Amino acid sequence: MSAAAEGGDGFTAAASEGFPGRIAVLRRHGGDGRGRPHRSNEHEHGRAAARAALGLLGGPGLERVPIGADADGCPVWPAGVAGSISHSAPWAAAAAAWTRSGVRGVGVDVEVVRPRHAALWQRVVMPDDAQAAPPGAPAEYVATVCFALREAVYKCVFPVLRVPMDWPDARLATNWDVGSAGVVLDERLGCDGALAAEFRAHDGAVVALCWWTAGASRK
Ligand SMILES: CC(C)(COP(=O)(O)OP(=O)(O)OC[C@H]1O[C@@H](n2cnc3c(N)ncnc32)[C@H](O)[C@@H]1OP(=O)(O)O)[C@@H](O)C(=O)NCCC(=O)NCCS
Repeated sequence: MSAAAEGGDGFTAAASEGFPGRIAVLRRHGGDGRGRPHRSNEHEHGRAAARAALGLLGGPGLERVPIGADADGCPVWPAGVAGSISHSAPWAAAAAAWTRSGVRGVGVDVEVVRPRHAALWQRVVMPDDAQAAPPGAPAEYVATVCFALREAVYKCVFPVLRVPMDWPDARLATNWDVGSAGVVLDERLGCDGALAAEFRAHDGAVVALCWWTAGASRK
């Protein structure tokens, strides 16, 4: 996930060679005086990131199309767009891609790396993940990356599959050096096609992105 534009207020990126969409990661200042927006503003901050991602994607007036939510809480994107929203104060992130580019689903997750995230290890770091993680990497960082990647996977496929998932349902082959991960879902979920993921550490936060490319359909 290489940044196209980067600064203290976040970054925007065409996430990689593989992802044909755009991602916007925004930092909000103000709010409670410690750089975090009031909790009630997080939803709007996420929508601001969504508008930024849509603006980067292009298309006349795309960033002005209201993004609602469905009964499951999934964002409702403009026709022909797949996308995802995440917020973790002071950050918000959104990613979007045209479905005509072959993308069926997109998931994004942003998490501030906090010491207490080490406690997520038992739930979100599978034995393969632990083996692949860089020796000596802080437990809270490894756990936050694994958590964010799996949340991004969930947010990528749930709006299409509408099937609950458990953490071990997503097997990750993570390349910690380049920040990428191959993703294989449990067969039970009936997800064919290809899933790929990337992550990036940025100013105390981790941003994870997952996308699902064509050919994927529920069996
Ligand atoms: C719904 C869920 C993904 C939200 O994640 P979160 O870390 O609490 O919050 P984030 O800020 O990252 O994301 C929130 C946004 O996700 C979107 N969202 C909500 N439910 C969603 C769903 N079921 N699918 C996709 N996106 C969803 C919304 O846009 C929401 O923001 P909004 O309410 O302002 O519109 C999370 O609570 C959850 O249920 N995770 C699944 C856990 C799980 O099954 N893990 C195993 C995965 S392998």
